[in-house]
Amino acid sequence: MTDTSPASMVDATAAEDVVAAPRDAVAGASTAALREAPHHRSWPLIGSSLAYIRDAHTFLRRLYECHGTVAKIDAFGTQCHFLFGPDANQFVLQNRGNLFENARWSYFIGPFFNRGLMLLDFDEHRLHRRIMNTAFAHDALLGYFDRMQATIASELDAWRPGQCLLFKRLKSMTLNIGSEVFVGQKPGSDADAINDAFLDTVQAATSLIRFDLPGGRWHAGIKGRRLLERHFRAALPAKRANPGPDLFSRLCEARTEDGDLFSDDDVVNHMIFVLMAAHDTSTITLSNLLYQLARQPAWQERLRDECRAIGPGALTFADLDRFEDTSLAIKETLRIAAPVPMLPRGVTTDCAFDGVRLPKGAMVATSAWMTHHMPEWWTAPHLFDPERFGPARAEDKRHPFLWTPFGGGAHKCIGLHFGMMEVKAILHQLLLRFRFTVPDGYVMPQDFTSLPIPKDRLPITLERLN
Ligand code: HEM
Repeated sequence: MTDTSPASMVDATAAEDVVAAPRDAVAGASTAALREAPHHRSWPLIGSSLAYIRDAHTFLRRLYECHGTVAKIDAFGTQCHFLFGPDANQFVLQNRGNLFENARWSYFIGPFFNRGLMLLDFDEHRLHRRIMNTAFAHDALLGYFDRMQATIASELDAWRPGQCLLFKRLKSMTLNIGSEVFVGQKPGSDADAINDAFLDTVQAATSLIRFDLPGGRWHAGIKGRRLLERHFRAALPAKRANPGPDLFSRLCEARTEDGDLFSDDDVVNHMIFVLMAAHDTSTITLSNLLYQLARQPAWQERLRDECRAIGPGALTFADLDRFEDTSLAIKETLRIAAPVPMLPRGVTTDCAFDGVRLPKGAMVATSAWMTHHMPEWWTAPHLFDPERFGPARAEDKRHPFLWTPFGGGAHKCIGLHFGMMEVKAILHQLLLRFRFTVPDGYVMPQDFTSLPIPKDRLPITLERLN
């Protein structure tokens, strides 16, 4: 296993400032001794784009097997240095010395998620995050939780047993939860248009044609963004005048102890980003979890027993801590299929990782997915085995940046607790109402066009329980 002893990492801006962490990340000052990143061979023009879209997981594994912890690829019209492993995650996400900037996300999603929290950096990011924190504080979560449970119950009342495309049902349910909890309104006639707009903005990220050509994914993403802006801008005055317990109101009212608050533009930009960040990641997590439970009936029964023991009624906030086996299964699902498989950054200052030069201006990316599947760190990483997270094995504790589905450092997911609360609340009601199965040997194909979703939308059979 990799040596994780503190020592050998020095950032380029402060060579004397040795930080506790990974191996072999070195000072930019002595870059002469460093190697260039191995350049992965690929097709002219399109580079490795199609290989990534066809099967990102196999592609990333191949990169690691061929080149080790650092590999440079051409894809989606740019070059990117992939950095693999927990040390790489720590180096980039902890970001001592501000060597990496999040603004580079703009290359993929800038026109669609302009000035979303994840795309801001350093002092500006810190200020916006401090304001936004109040919308994710404990009392705010309590309000969201109650509203959420009522929506989940009425959504599931409408589900019929039999075969269904589970991903579609879950996506529509998380959108409706978002309408209620984030926007504070019942899903209206424009719910489908908004759902489509989200999908278009997210799918646009990995367009091969990256300009506004009618009919293309980029074009659809731009149109989606405009629709979302119009929607939230129109609703803003009423929200400011009559705030409720929803996230939109909270963002309008949010302020730091120094009195800083968001402008109208900030509220609209943050709303669009947060809705996207919440909606797709939770849907993907739930789909992957239900897929695993459909394939592992023993685990499905174990979680159902836990839900029965907690009780059939509405959950209290304290009940969330009673989901012990469920928490293990969620963690394992997020390990096997991290909903955000790569995190891009821009290099602000010459630096290096594992003896390889990372020049100022380059794009780097860490990959939770790859790190979550390294056989050096995990026992049988391809197996769904929630107990690896239990106290007896605690495989994730082998390195502080080994399990990072929510990222880490300054940009670590602000909606982590919201997301876990939503997944548990949905799972609780779903397991008590339905048993679900997939045919023997079924393997869910993945669509990697953007965030990984089930290519076949996950056909699953639901059997109603009394
Ligand atoms: C299981 C569900 C989720 C996963 C796996 C997930 C994953 C992530 C990851 C990996 C990042 C870090 C991005 C980076 O470092 O570049 C992130 C950031 C973020 N997430 Fe989540 N997320 C989830 C749910 C949510 C939810 C429910 C919300 C909102 C309610 C949310 C809002 C955000 C926001 C606003 C950021 C940007 C934080 C910042 O830059 O300071 N996420 N998320």
